[in-house]
Amino acid sequence: MTDLVTLAELGGPLAVMGGAAYARHAHPAAYWSTVGLPLSVARLLASYSSTMDACGLTVEPSRWRALAVRATTRREVRPVPPRRGVIRPNATGLRVRLRLAPGQEPADVAASAERLRHAWGVHAVYVRDVKPGVVELRLVGYDVLRKVRMPRQADGGFLRVPVALREDATAFVRDYRAVPHELVLGATLSGKSMYLRHLVAGLARQHVALVGVDCKRGVELAPFASRLSALATDPDEAAELLPVLVKEMEDRYDLIKARQGIAPGTPDEEITSDVWGLPESERPAPIVLFVDEVAELFLVATRKDEERRDEMVTHLIRLAQLGRAAGIYLEVCGQRFGAELGKGATMLRAQLTGRICHRVNDEASAKMALGDIAPEAVYAACTIAPELPGLAVAGDTSGGWSRIRTPYLSLADAAAVCRESAHLAPDVPALAPFRPYVPPAPVEASGPVTAPRPVTE
Ligand SMILES: Nc1ncnc2c1ncn2[C@@H]1O[C@H](COP(=O)(O)OP(=O)(O)OP(=O)(O)O)[C@@H](O)[C@H]1O
Ligand SMILES: [Mg+2]
Repeated sequence: MTDLVTLAELGGPLAVMGGAAYARHAHPAAYWSTVGLPLSVARLLASYSSTMDACGLTVEPSRWRALAVRATTRREVRPVPPRRGVIRPNATGLRVRLRLAPGQEPADVAASAERLRHAWGVHAVYVRDVKPGVVELRLVGYDVLRKVRMPRQADGGFLRVPVALREDATAFVRDYRAVPHELVLGATLSGKSMYLRHLVAGLARQHVALVGVDCKRGVELAPFASRLSALATDPDEAAELLPVLVKEMEDRYDLIKARQGIAPGTPDEEITSDVWGLPESERPAPIVLFVDEVAELFLVATRKDEERRDEMVTHLIRLAQLGRAAGIYLEVCGQRFGAELGKGATMLRAQLTGRICHRVNDEASAKMALGDIAPEAVYAACTIAPELPGLAVAGDTSGGWSRIRTPYLSLADAAAVCRESAHLAPDVPALAPFRPYVPPAPVEASGPVTAPRPVTE
């Protein structure tokens, strides 16, 4: 009998603990909302001062404060932590603002992020500089990159595509106006084409001309044919398409120039050096050029092809150098992108400001994408596990970087978005000859049009 009672006494709590551990692993978002969040808030409130003290983030109190404490209470005067704002919980973590004491800087708090994470029992702590003297602590409750769910209020817009989730649970937005050209690198099966797929699906609903160069015979981009303004599926076709794009760019510059010279008395604000300054009725639609497996354009089998290769590479470099002001943007994808590809490779790479590095097979490949950004970013890219395709390190040449992961989007869903938005493809006459063939959609059979009638004499 006593054994049964002991079993019942122990069994209850054990079952609760087991259930909690299972929920934490299998349904981290639900666990966070129900258990993790209240626990972490309680820990934060209870241990705020002592944790800040242990992290060396407290300062001596001012003389007035010390006097006031001594006069009103008999307690010893203790160092004061940064003033804390309201705790703002959300579905993935919580946020709290801190007012730094004079002499403190955001880097002091960032240096203690790992200690704060352990003290408050959360997955990660990130520090963001809000304004001078104020930082925001972002506590993330669980590993949001394991099962990606994009935040509902992701900040999209014209030429801005929320394409992936950052590890601090904010959306990573591919903003073509801020970062015109980008290099997407990664070993085979690392998730490069998934990244492109999101961009194509995101841009398909906007007034943007999409152009594809997919030297894998079009297997990645051909399903989006209904929305593409041009598609080249082998190096021969690419060699014909690229000069047309360069010509289009030059025509756009002529258009801008004509506008600049309209009349001597044109107001300053109407003089423009890029397409965005043109009036909307005259402004050509932006063009985004997707290049999947860029190495295919560089590799040549025979000496005869070398001339064609050099021409293609020169066209790509010109597009990358001058395209931005003409509203032409590049998204270049490859497994490696180093000097070994030959003349022009490093020059083209230097023009690609945005850098996305998926899982790579060796450090040298990661260095090709992130070497100019930060050594820690290279290390982070080298530690991406093959079980998590789509995980990448995103950096830009200004030195910042973060880990991101795309959500899963099936090829069929992305192709359906393209079919639905086919009518949004802008008219770019120069690209008309390269418009891909779109097979007619199969019509659902709903029985024969006329009922068969038996022939009678
Ligand atoms: N974010 C993601 N979540 C889940 N699965 C993903 C994600 N990204 C990619 N995958 C899966 O990983 C596999 C490889 O992805 P993808 O085709 O994009 O890789 P890749 O880098 O383009 O490979 P390759 O160089 O062979 O073309 C696909 O089966 C895809 O469904
Ligand atoms: Mg691919």
